Amino acid sequence: MFITFEGIEGCGKTTQIKLLAERLKQQGYDVVLTREPGGPPISEKIRHILVDAANKEMVPTCELLLYFAARAQHLEELIKPNLKKGRIVLCDRFVDASVAYQGYARGLSLKDLAWLSRYVLRDFKIDLTLVLDLPVKEGLQRARGRAQKLTKAKREDRFENEKIAFHEAVRKGYLALAKKNQRRFVVVDAALSKDALHDKIYHIVSAQICV
Ligand SMILES: Nc1ncnc2c1ncn2[C@@H]1O[C@H](COP(=O)(O)OP(=O)(O)OP(=O)(O)O)[C@@H](O)[C@H]1O
Ligand SMILES: [Mg+2]
Repeated sequence: MFITFEGIEGCGKTTQIKLLAERLKQQGYDVVLTREPGGPPISEKIRHILVDAANKEMVPTCELLLYFAARAQHLEELIKPNLKKGRIVLCDRFVDASVAYQGYARGLSLKDLAWLSRYVLRDFKIDLTLVLDLPVKEGLQRARGRAQKLTKAKREDRFENEKIAFHEAVRKGYLALAKKNQRRFVVVDAALSKDALHDKIYHIVSAQICV
């Protein structure tokens, strides 16, 4: 089973994916936790380029192709082999992030994105996508609170400096995607406490695992 977590910066994806992984492991499931951009070493190297605040000159097409380059490697080297072994793979962001950020928010053609997704993913299918939905201001506040705890080198804040309007467009993009693909997506209210949200997510996922 391949499950992805999506949502704006600071909505709680990393927090929740870790809690879910722990809980599923406790239940005896074989779980692999991974993230995008990233995963295997080549994809993590591409991540460094993408999150580097110094790369202000990066043009949107370059950014988009780097995300998909990292994703192609991630899929073949890590995701598919683990799914083949019968493991549950949990992924912190995946292809919908490209559509929400580069498509809905940066304005790249959704048609081109759909073409590129098909080219890279082929017949690969995501089983479940959880969108952690949160007002932009709250997400950015949470992300800012987290950033203050990190050293400068550890901050990955190229996006966190973007305008509020950009994040609003990302949020709307995710909600539009969820509306279009109701079978795969579940939108959850990320304003809940960490524990309440975790319980909700756990119940959604365990219901699908049992099917
Ligand atoms: N339900 C919650 N209520 C309040 N604070 C939360 C909640 N979930 C997470 N946080 C806090 O908000 C901050 C952001 O959470 P987290 O890093 O999990 O978000 P994220 O969606 O992974 O962000 P990013 O997209 O930037 O990776 C963290 O400091 C975390 O402890
Ligand atoms: Mg995160």
